[in-house]
Amino acid sequence: MPEQQSAQYKAALDFAERQVKSLVERHPDYFPIYTVGGKWYHEGELWTDWTGGFLTGMMWRFYRRKHEVEWRQRAAHYSRLLQPRQHDRNVHDLGFIFLNSYLPWYELTGDPAFLQVLVQAGRTLATRFQEKGQYLCSFLGPESLFIDIMMNVPLIFYAANQTGDKELRRIAVAHCRTTRERLVRSDGSTAHEGIFDVQTGRFLRQSTQQGLRPDSCWARGLAWSMYGFSKVFGLTGMEEFRETAELNAEYWLTHLPDDKIPYWDFDADLSQPLPFGPQKDSSAAAIAASALFDLARQAKSDERSLIYHNAALVTLDALLDPEYLAISTPGWEGILKHGVYHTRKNLGVDESVMWGDFFFVEALSKALEQRV
Ligand code: GLY
Repeated sequence: MPEQQSAQYKAALDFAERQVKSLVERHPDYFPIYTVGGKWYHEGELWTDWTGGFLTGMMWRFYRRKHEVEWRQRAAHYSRLLQPRQHDRNVHDLGFIFLNSYLPWYELTGDPAFLQVLVQAGRTLATRFQEKGQYLCSFLGPESLFIDIMMNVPLIFYAANQTGDKELRRIAVAHCRTTRERLVRSDGSTAHEGIFDVQTGRFLRQSTQQGLRPDSCWARGLAWSMYGFSKVFGLTGMEEFRETAELNAEYWLTHLPDDKIPYWDFDADLSQPLPFGPQKDSSAAAIAASALFDLARQAKSDERSLIYHNAALVTLDALLDPEYLAISTPGWEGILKHGVYHTRKNLGVDESVMWGDFFFVEALSKALEQRV
């Protein structure tokens, strides 16, 4: 990587460290999801509590970067705050939470107590499995399958790999196959949600909560799918899942606007007023950049690897523009501007969102560690 590019990435990580430090000093033990007017602390609705792992995950990344004891202590403290969630049966998000908190902690220390938390969280998540429809249901109810769950199912594979539990593996593989069949379309685009008949398990229709329409492609959902299937390929070596991730990547790379940052939904009508019109989602771009670094490592040919690697770098470079990176915006408390949480509910629209910041930090770290 050219020296100037690497210096820019390091400067962005330094900025990220300053922003997170200032958040945790100002609001200790608080896990915000999105900013309001650029400020983290607010009373706004959460919709669902799924993001604790992202703030914690950034702390582990910062510790890995410079080995400053302060970050390790903070990361361990915030991880510990999440521990009770290993038994949380109300969300489908335990992968987001534990793979970014207890997994880095376990990898650093090898402490079996941390592995036990990871395995328990994987077992809890697996209780969402709907035998009739062969999927893990979303927090909305047993009839609902979300594309986002692809980012959480790796926790079940991880627990299965660690324990040799074949039942956990069966559930996880079945979930991925159902998701691929019902939510990933033949052109690589994705639906956010699938609705099933809970009595028979029959698939009824595609739907959406956060996208524009049931038949549209919600940008973050596509990024979750690309990243999730790539992670699952990494954990299983099952070729069908790499193929799905590459199909998603194909749609992603051929449908982006010129500046490489997607609008919140690939089918958004740009002539409409905001928030449904030309609203960018920088968080989707950050997720995709991180996924593309992994896909580059996993690709079968050097040619594909280069395509994914370059696309990841171009995306990061686009996010470094002061239009997105908040470094030149006085008083803005997040790291990336122009993220979106929930357009329809008008939550965190055109704000910083915690996962956008996390995946940006993760992708910058991957670029600098040359993990491709
Ligand atoms: N709940 C996952 C998302 O908003 O992307």
